[in-house]
Amino acid sequence: MINTPLTRDYHLRFPIIGAPMAGVAEAELALAITKAGGLGMVGIGSSASPAFIEKQGERLTAGGPFGLGLMVWALKQRPDLLDAALEVKPTLISLSFGDPTPYIERCHARGVRVAVQVHDRTETHQALVAGADLLVAQGTEAGGHTGTVATLPLLQLVLRQAGSTPVAAAGGIATPQAVAGLLAMGAAGVWVGTAFIATPESRQSSEGRAQVIAARETDTILTHVYDRLQQLAWPDAYAGRALANEFTRTWHGREADMLETSEAREHFLSHRGDYSVDYIYAGQAVGLIEEERTAADIVAWLGSGAEEILKRRCRDLFPLDPA
Ligand SMILES: Cc1cc2nc3c(=O)[nH]c(=O)nc-3n(C[C@H](O)[C@H](O)[C@H](O)COP(=O)(O)O)c2cc1C
Repeated sequence: MINTPLTRDYHLRFPIIGAPMAGVAEAELALAITKAGGLGMVGIGSSASPAFIEKQGERLTAGGPFGLGLMVWALKQRPDLLDAALEVKPTLISLSFGDPTPYIERCHARGVRVAVQVHDRTETHQALVAGADLLVAQGTEAGGHTGTVATLPLLQLVLRQAGSTPVAAAGGIATPQAVAGLLAMGAAGVWVGTAFIATPESRQSSEGRAQVIAARETDTILTHVYDRLQQLAWPDAYAGRALANEFTRTWHGREADMLETSEAREHFLSHRGDYSVDYIYAGQAVGLIEEERTAADIVAWLGSGAEEILKRRCRDLFPLDPA
């Protein structure tokens, strides 16, 4: 069995975290991932209600360890989201996309560990000083909102800075080979989002799941279009990686023009669920997703597959060493 700080600290069979994905990863997906031996997380969007968090908590509490993912920029306007999250006693809270310093102590005081997604050396330093229990090196390949540095250089930088704090890798991970490679580099685990979108347990619509399966690795775009359109207070440093479509082809790079009249916004609002206009957030790993699979199947495949690969590679690379 793979043994890392992540499997030890959270009592996991596999060092795999189901990433928080607002609107996509809710209790059903998180429960399925935890039941299969990983750690499932629920993404809390900026407009979520405390009642939603309470309901998710009720469904998750008896099912083993679980996490809740909060966005720091949203907490500035919605501190009630953290209050509600702490009430349901998650194993882990993630605080991403902003300075987590004001919030970590409160989580620790309630016995909740904190993960922080980081995107460069400055954010890594900030998260370490603030007392993060787990750093998540989120590369730009990732689906949803992310930074601009790719997973490979970012993970090397974060591992160099992290000292004894465990580091998970995120962004572009969708095969056992990737899990094995990142563990070999020194990651304590992997934080996987896109690979779980096309599962029956995800909240993505069946049409959205079909688009994820059909998409290639070159079909995503990192864009501010949807955040500007919805007037969300996302910091400039984080754009969202989504499947490119007619709408992004029209407005990406022309956000100021888009906002000059209400036309684009009205068009968007009247076409929700039409994915030539509406968004499907997904990472470059979409190119590796070829069919719908259950979350349990994916966790077992990634985890057991990585175990096999690591053992085999050690034997192949060191044929002369005693076993
Ligand atoms: C549909 C979608 C929604 C996401 N929503 C959130 C979120 O609410 N909070 C968060 O911290 N990260 C969010 N993320 C980022 C993930 O937590 C994670 O970093 C990312 O999915 C990892 O890269 P991958 O998609 O290549 O696996 C989202 C990602 C996706 C694909």
